[in-house]
Amino acid sequence: MKEKIESYKQELEELKADTLDAIEAFRIKFLGSKGLVKELYADLKSVANEEKREFGQLINEFRTNAEAKYNELKDSLSASDGGSDPKVDLTRPGTKFPQGARHPISLVRKEIIEIFSRIGFTVSQGPEIEDDWHNFSALNFPPEHPARDMQDTFFVEKGDNEMALRTHTSSVQVRVMENSTPPIRTISPGRVFRNEAISARAHCIFHQVEGLYIDEKVSFADLKQTLLYFAKEMFGDKTEIRLRPSYFPFTEPSAEVDVSCNICGGKGCNVCKYTGYLEILGCGMVDPNVLEAAGIDSKKYSGFAFGMGIERIAMLKYQVKDLRLFFENDVRFLNQFKSAY
Ligand code: DAH
Repeated sequence: MKEKIESYKQELEELKADTLDAIEAFRIKFLGSKGLVKELYADLKSVANEEKREFGQLINEFRTNAEAKYNELKDSLSASDGGSDPKVDLTRPGTKFPQGARHPISLVRKEIIEIFSRIGFTVSQGPEIEDDWHNFSALNFPPEHPARDMQDTFFVEKGDNEMALRTHTSSVQVRVMENSTPPIRTISPGRVFRNEAISARAHCIFHQVEGLYIDEKVSFADLKQTLLYFAKEMFGDKTEIRLRPSYFPFTEPSAEVDVSCNICGGKGCNVCKYTGYLEILGCGMVDPNVLEAAGIDSKKYSGFAFGMGIERIAMLKYQVKDLRLFFENDVRFLNQFKSAY
C-alpha cells in the first residue's frame, strides 16, 4: 500500500499538462469518481485497523497535493493566454463597429467649397445670431420689407437692440465687405433659420452658401461664367445654365439661375416637371447702396453676389425628394452616402 501511494505521488510530481484536454484527463485520472484517490480510499478498508490512521493521513495528503496541482495547471494555462478565462474562445470573430460616414449636406458643402476654392474663393463665416443691420438694413431691405416680418424671422430680442437668427448667409457678405478691402473673393457656407412650416420642400433650419466677388470692372459676364463653371463642376460637363430676371433688394440687376435637368439632360421629365430646367440659386450685381453701406466706393468697385441652398443642391444631385430626410438622421438613409466620400 505504501509503495502504491509513493508511486502515485511520484507520478503526480512528474506530470505535465499544458492543454485544457490534458488537464481534464489528469483530473479524471487522479480526482475523478473512479480515479486514483477514490481507489486508495477503497483500499483503506482492507488495511489493518491500527494502520488505518497512518494510511488515512497519507491518502489525505495525496489528495490535497493532487487538487493543488490541478488548480496550478489550470492557472498557468489561463495566464499564458494573456490572463483570459480559458473558456473564452479567442478564435471567434469580434463585434463589428459600424463605420461612420459624412452627412450628405457636409459632402455637398465640401464639394461647393472645393469647386470655388479652385478659382480663388476663400471661405468666410459669420454669426448665426445677427443684428438688423447685417441681416437686413445694410442689404438694402426697406424698413417695411415683408422679409423682416415675424412670420419669416425668428427674433431673439425685440426692441432697440433687435437680434434675430439670420435668415440668409447674405449677412456674412456685409461683414466681409466691412472688414476687408477689394479685391474680395469669398464664399460663406452656414446655417440659416426661417419661421416656416416644415414640409418636403421647406424647413425652419437649412444651409446656404453665399458668394461674393468685388473688384474693379467686375461685370455680369463674370458672374455668368463663374456660375456656368460651378454648374458644370457640380452636375457634370454637359450642364447648361439659364438666367431669369428676378428681384432681390441687395442686387441690381438680379437673376435666378436654373441648370439643365441632370436627369433627362433637358429633354423633360417628372423631376424637372417637363421644363428641362431646375432652379438652383439667386444672384446679381451687388447694388451700389450695399457697397456704400459697407464702406466700399461704388464708383471704383463693382461686384456680383449669389446665394444657394445646400439642401436644394443635394436634393438635385442625389435625387432626394423630401428635404426632411436630411434632418432625421435615419441611418438607413445616411448609409447610402457612404461611398460618396
Ligand atoms: N439671400 C437670398 C435668399 O436667402 C439668396 C441670394 C439671392 C443671395 C441673390 C445673393 C443674391 O447673394 O445675389 O434667398
